[in-house]
Amino acid sequence: MLKRFTVSLEDDLLVEFDSYIKSHQYNNRSEAIRDLIRKSLIMEEWEAGKEVVGVISLVYDHHQYQLQERITELQHDFHHQIISATHIHMDHDNCLEVIIVRGMAAKVKELAAKLSAIRGVKDGTLNMSSTGGDLH
Ligand code: NI
Repeated sequence: MLKRFTVSLEDDLLVEFDSYIKSHQYNNRSEAIRDLIRKSLIMEEWEAGKEVVGVISLVYDHHQYQLQERITELQHDFHHQIISATHIHMDHDNCLEVIIVRGMAAKVKELAAKLSAIRGVKDGTLNMSSTGGDLH
């Protein structure tokens, strides 16, 4: 059930917020505010050390010496946090690896940071999701 409440903002902050809404394709202010609140609550959970689920995406050139081995080895070190990993051959050189993770936020963040820091990884992102409560 949706509840209404009133938000007061300074003029220029509202102008900035409306342009943010436009560039992020939100339909209205309420939708944008809901999304921002959820995101900041997820951030809070990270800090509180709750359990989260997430997706790590890596892009790398598989020709890079021993890169594939390093990525695999690191994933084995964190095997308790990894639910599944999918490897996609993007083109002749580049690979995309999508790793679905679940665990304590701090641990998942550590894995994502370590994978992204491996030399030769061109892009590494972590997207975290939460149900808003504890995972049972
Ligand atoms: Ni590949």
